[in-house]
Amino acid sequence: MSEKIEILVLPGDGIGTEVVPVAVAVMRAAAARTGLQLAFSEALIGGTAIDRTGSPLPDETVERARRARAVLLGAVGGPKWDALPTRERPERGLLGLRAALGLFANLRPALLFAPLADASSLKPELVAGLDLLIVRELTGGIYFGEPRGIETVNNERRGFNTDVYTEHEIDRIARVAFDLARKRNHRLCSVDKANVLEVTQLWREVVTGVGADYPDVELSHMYVDNAGMQLVRAPKQFDVMVTGNLFGDILSDVAAMLTGSLGMLPSASLAADGAGLYEPVHGSAPDIAGQDKANPLATILSAAMLFRYSLDAPAAADAIEAAVDRVLEAGYRTGDILGSGDRTGLRLVGTREMGERVIEQLESAP
Ligand code: IPM
Ligand code: MG
Repeated sequence: MSEKIEILVLPGDGIGTEVVPVAVAVMRAAAARTGLQLAFSEALIGGTAIDRTGSPLPDETVERARRARAVLLGAVGGPKWDALPTRERPERGLLGLRAALGLFANLRPALLFAPLADASSLKPELVAGLDLLIVRELTGGIYFGEPRGIETVNNERRGFNTDVYTEHEIDRIARVAFDLARKRNHRLCSVDKANVLEVTQLWREVVTGVGADYPDVELSHMYVDNAGMQLVRAPKQFDVMVTGNLFGDILSDVAAMLTGSLGMLPSASLAADGAGLYEPVHGSAPDIAGQDKANPLATILSAAMLFRYSLDAPAAADAIEAAVDRVLEAGYRTGDILGSGDRTGLRLVGTREMGERVIEQLESAP
C-alpha cells in the first residue's frame, strides 16, 4: 500500500469548527474515489489555542504544519479575544503561520456558480459567468512591515505601520500571477497606488519588468481605488489581478460578495517550497457560530484547491467543484446564499446537511 499523505487540519474558532469537519468528510469521499490515501490530524490555532496553551500559534502547530503535505484551516478570532493587544490576538496565529511556512502567494478565485446569480448584490447580467482570480501577496507589505506600533509622543499616542516591499518579493508574486494568467485568459491587472505610495511605484516598476518575460500575457495597471470601483461596476473585465497584502485583503472581500456570499470563496496560500495552506476567505462569524447555519462551501472548495495544488489531483478537485455545482443546481442553500428574490425550488439547509448533499453528489457521480 502506498504511504499515506498527511493533512493537518486546523479548525480554529467560531464556525471554523463546524465547516472544517464537513470539508474533511468531503475530502475523504473524494480521496476514496481517486484512490488517494489521506491521513488527517488536528492541531490548535487562534483563540482556541490561546485558551488551551496561552499562544495563538503553539510551536507544535508550526512543526506539524511543516511536516504535513498540506494544511486545511477554518477561521480564527472572535469577540472573546478582541480585547487582547494586537500581538496576542488569534489573528497573530494565522499571520504567524503564513510567515513561518513562507506562504507568500495567496490565490483567491471568485467564481460565480450559475445557480447563485440571484444571490449576488449585483445585477445577474453583471456577474453571470464571472471567473476572476485575485493573487494577493501574503507575507509582506504593511501587514509585516517594521517599524510598527503605538507610542506616546508629546503626550499623545501615535500609531504607525510600515508598507514595505523588496524587489524580490514583488518579482516572485508577479511571476506566480503571470504563470496563472498563462493558464487562464492571458490577462493580468496589477493593482497599486503608485500615484501616492513609493512602495507601489516600485511594485509597478518590478511587475512591468517581469512582464517582459511574459509577452503573451496582456499586462495592465490600475490604482486600487479605481480597481475597487471597477470590481463592483464591471467585474467581468478582469481575468487575474495581482496586488499587495492589504489591497488584496480588501479587494478579495469585495470580489467574494460578487459571487453571492463570502461563504462561497475559497483560497490557497502557497510557498516556494511547495507548502500549501487552504482556507475559506470568510472569518469565524461569531454571530452564527454553533448553530449549524454556516455555509461550508468555501471550505469545501478550499479542499478542492488542496487536491489541485498540493496533491496534484486535479480530477478530485474537479469532482468536488462539480458536486458543489450540482448541489446548488438542485436548490440546496444555506441562509447566506438563499437570496431575497423568488425562493421557489430552493431548500434551506444547515452546515452538516450541505456537506452531506455534496458527498451524495460526489458518490453518485459517474
Ligand atoms: C483574510 C483575513 C485575515 C487577513 C485576518 C483574519 C488576519 O481577513 O485572510 O483575508 O487580514 O489576512
Ligand atoms: Mg480578509
